[in-house]
Amino acid sequence: AELQSAISRHLAGKDRRGAEGTPSLGLVPTMGALHDGHRRLAEAAVEGNDVVVASIFVNPLQFGDPVDLERYPRTLQADAALLEKAGVDVVFAPDLEEMYPGGDPLVRVTAGPLASAWEGASRPGHFDGVCTVVAKLLHLALPGSAAGAPTAFRAYFGQKDAQQVAIVRRMVKDLNFPVEIVSVPIVRAEDGLALSSRNQFLSAADREAALVLSRALRLVEERAAAHEPLMPDDAVALIESQPGVQLDYFDVVDTDTLEPLAFNCRETPFTGEALAIVAAKVGPVRLIDNMPLRAR
Ligand code: PAJ
Repeated sequence: AELQSAISRHLAGKDRRGAEGTPSLGLVPTMGALHDGHRRLAEAAVEGNDVVVASIFVNPLQFGDPVDLERYPRTLQADAALLEKAGVDVVFAPDLEEMYPGGDPLVRVTAGPLASAWEGASRPGHFDGVCTVVAKLLHLALPGSAAGAPTAFRAYFGQKDAQQVAIVRRMVKDLNFPVEIVSVPIVRAEDGLALSSRNQFLSAADREAALVLSRALRLVEERAAAHEPLMPDDAVALIESQPGVQLDYFDVVDTDTLEPLAFNCRETPFTGEALAIVAAKVGPVRLIDNMPLRAR
């Protein structure tokens, strides 16, 4: 109720400033410990909407391991400052009781077969937890016609978590959520490592080793651009030759269904679009990364 009235107040305020056309609300769900990747998400939402809400909530439902949940970094003050600086209007940081007043929810949203492979395979229940909390956040922020006009509603997700984006897109389609899902390209460090709140647990040597992941992705990306066969085995060999890196998967998949490509990636010249995805354990951390492939 408090979130709804804050949203209405901000939307009404924008109206009085004479915004033209349909008012719009952007939602940026996060778990905090924010970095430049999250900042890009917030900036994209601020650029594209009249009013922006960012949520910070470490969602226990999506953690398999209680130790992992316990250890998750919590930096609320710094996070709120970063979001406000990016132009976010409302920071929504509910506590456990506010999000799950009855304790763990009995009725949940399940991600179905889209969650059976890749990240879902090594994190059972993870994407059901994500779907359930995202569904709740969308409902909590869902703008009515409080500002006197129907309000466009967009929610922002990072392409870093490609499977999460695919699943959330499918959830809002299958369950008729009146929201447009916007995905924001991966933000990387200068050396190519995709930003993640887990990178802080990498030693200097781990971090150097981890660069093989983006290098392997670039290898197939360049072949895709040049209409060559992707030969993902070469990328796998590159990663497996890197000491300190334990490959979980490297594959080339359809961006929406996450199904491996139907054609023979060793022989068939690449056309069209796809997604190269990778996950590996580096030191104490499991890292994921991906790159869109496009024949030019
Ligand atoms: P969290 O890991 O905090 O990430 C919040 C958003 O930031 C996600 O959409 C994620 O994909 C995006 N993000 C993280 N690193 C990024 C990077 N390097 N470049 C671009 N975007 C990046 O993902 C979650 O939280 C949770 O599952 C959540 C959706 C909030 C549900 O609890």
